[in-house]
Amino acid sequence: MINGNKVLFSGMQATGNLTLGNYLGALKNWVSLADEYECYYSVVDMHSITVRQDPAVLRKRARALLTLYIAAGIDPEKNCLYYQSHVSGHAELAWILNCFTYMGELNRMTQFKDKAAKHADNINAGLFTYPVLMAADILLYQADVVPVGIDQMQHLELTRDIAQRFNAIYGDVFTVPQAYVGKVGAKIMSLQDPAKKMSKSDENPNASIYLMDDADTIRRKCKRAVTDSEGIILYRDEQPGVKNLLDIYCACTGKAPEEAVKEFEGCGYGQLKEAVGDAVVGVLEPLQTRFKELEKDKAYIDTIIKNNAERAAYTASKTLRKVQKKVGFPERVR
Ligand code: TYM
Repeated sequence: MINGNKVLFSGMQATGNLTLGNYLGALKNWVSLADEYECYYSVVDMHSITVRQDPAVLRKRARALLTLYIAAGIDPEKNCLYYQSHVSGHAELAWILNCFTYMGELNRMTQFKDKAAKHADNINAGLFTYPVLMAADILLYQADVVPVGIDQMQHLELTRDIAQRFNAIYGDVFTVPQAYVGKVGAKIMSLQDPAKKMSKSDENPNASIYLMDDADTIRRKCKRAVTDSEGIILYRDEQPGVKNLLDIYCACTGKAPEEAVKEFEGCGYGQLKEAVGDAVVGVLEPLQTRFKELEKDKAYIDTIIKNNAERAAYTASKTLRKVQKKVGFPERVR
């Protein structure tokens, strides 16, 4: 809560090509919630360097991501869109929270285990304490709600634990945040292996629909999606490939799964895949057009970056000063 307003915080990494999973699981909900809350949407570039990055590519992707937030429909005049690295409070609070987080808790994080296995040559301390930086992101803004996909729930739970632990020692310093997970689209699966989530880092390009894929590519990927040999369109766990296609269809069209199942009664998988392809193109084409327009307006994007970083830094500094005082750091002499 800030000045009586409920606060929303969320972030995305500018690593790899964003997928339909990022859009349907997170970004789409950000847009629909923006009017109800005071919103902070960060491009979390500090999280990105836990895995080696090409600096020029990271810079380019970070800007593209911020532009994409606006293209998706988030109004940058009403909401605060900014780069995490422009607000030093994230790192400062993360340090303090590191001292209130246990190694055992971090050891249990499944994302750490997955990433450590994938990047065995670079299991750095940042990768290990990544969830603490994420907790700092959220707690710095006293967020009430955090819209994320299901894969981030474990980090959200840890954030809540850290906040409650800190509050138990020092009084009510942090708002304890709630996750917001959409009814459909919270876990979009790979089109090639519906047991795995759709991921930016998947090596098989047919497994993911990227937000910048053109219409033909989207339709082709949908056509090639792995289904099963049951030959019937039902929304159930026994048919994970079909269920995933229905999820994508529903998240794109706003329909409920039961409604979609009725609509596809008697249809073959080919028809379902075609309808999913059309629904995805219907959502992504306008986003791409708007993105391309915005990208050209460099001065406008620069103004957003500057103004919003200042706004975010101001809010962040208020929480940070309070926390620093609570833990016993000496007051500044003016
Ligand atoms: P990231 O960048 O991996 O993903 C951004 C958002 O997209 C969601 N998502 C998905 N949703 C549904 N289906 C999928 N296949 C799928 N893949 C990704 C993620 O759940 C996420 O909401 N650690 C975070 C970024 C972060 C953050 C934060 C988020 C840093 N600080 C504070 C919220 C609050 C991450 O790596 O997300």
